[in-house]
Amino acid sequence: DKEKDKVRIGFSQAMTNDDWRRSMNDAMQLQASLDSNIDLIIRDANYDVEKQIKQIEGLIADSLDVLIVSPIQSKPITPVVQNALNAGIPVLVVDRKTEGQNYTAYLGADNIEVGRNAAKEIISSNTRDSIRLIEIRGLAGSSPAEERGMGFQQIINQFSKARIVATIEGNWEKESIQDQLIILLKKGIKVDYIFAHNDRMAIGAWEVAHDLGLEKEIDFIGVDGLPGPNGGIQAVKNGVLKATVLYPTGGDEAIKLALKILDKESISKNNILSTTIINEVNADIMNNQFEKINEQQAEIEDQLKAIKEQEVLYSSQNNLLKISIAL
Ligand code: FRU
Repeated sequence: DKEKDKVRIGFSQAMTNDDWRRSMNDAMQLQASLDSNIDLIIRDANYDVEKQIKQIEGLIADSLDVLIVSPIQSKPITPVVQNALNAGIPVLVVDRKTEGQNYTAYLGADNIEVGRNAAKEIISSNTRDSIRLIEIRGLAGSSPAEERGMGFQQIINQFSKARIVATIEGNWEKESIQDQLIILLKKGIKVDYIFAHNDRMAIGAWEVAHDLGLEKEIDFIGVDGLPGPNGGIQAVKNGVLKATVLYPTGGDEAIKLALKILDKESISKNNILSTTIINEVNADIMNNQFEKINEQQAEIEDQLKAIKEQEVLYSSQNNLLKISIAL
């Protein structure tokens, strides 16, 4: 039976409420639809760790061939990933990791490098004698927050002119940091630069500064660099962000890698997507590149639709033929 030959890829997504994760899912779906043998099942944990564990357990029980996971936080998702491995299901972790490297492979940018890149951009674009910084962190216990923080501090600590004067614990969403930032800025602490672990929080920080009339005094840098009207690239072009560090979603690569794992091809444990600084120098180029990719994706989608329509037409003609032969 044809259905049984299909490859079943399950993806446990941390949540789908933001553009970054939506574009990751879209890229996966597009890549999967290029191969009619792939059945891609996406489960959205909606940022609820318990739900993510249950969904992964459900996928394991549902004769899965490979599991892709973006864990909300590392520690609580580690045992259930181990269960998948014990059940003989290879696991590809994407963007966020579990603890102890007990997975088949990781795919994503190097988040330590992301943090270092942000720090280097701040240092190299400043001629001031002293740079007072605020670090706005992603959700504690999620690996990109820990790694971006580590890389950022490594570089900042090498320069005596740069100093982190305050740290705000966020959860990747701007609502989690705005009240805390208002309190800090109203206290009158002097700040030159704010590094937020993603663009949503960086733009949220700019909004707070703007409300207090301080947005010209402070520079802002984020991470993600998404295209589109609400993305980080546009924010750089608008002068809201001084820069952003590109953090590719790798949705299409995830599907390709999952298939390699299934074909028993040898792959690296760490599959690192490249990252780069986006600032006023290259924001336009980056934008044009992404627009081209989006156009190409839309064309592929149209072609896939046309092929599907042809298939439906062909099978109905075939049925008519069978009927007329039978007559
Ligand atoms: C999207 C996101 C990104 C961030 C990534 C880290 O949900 O918050 O903004 O770069 O997750 O895992």
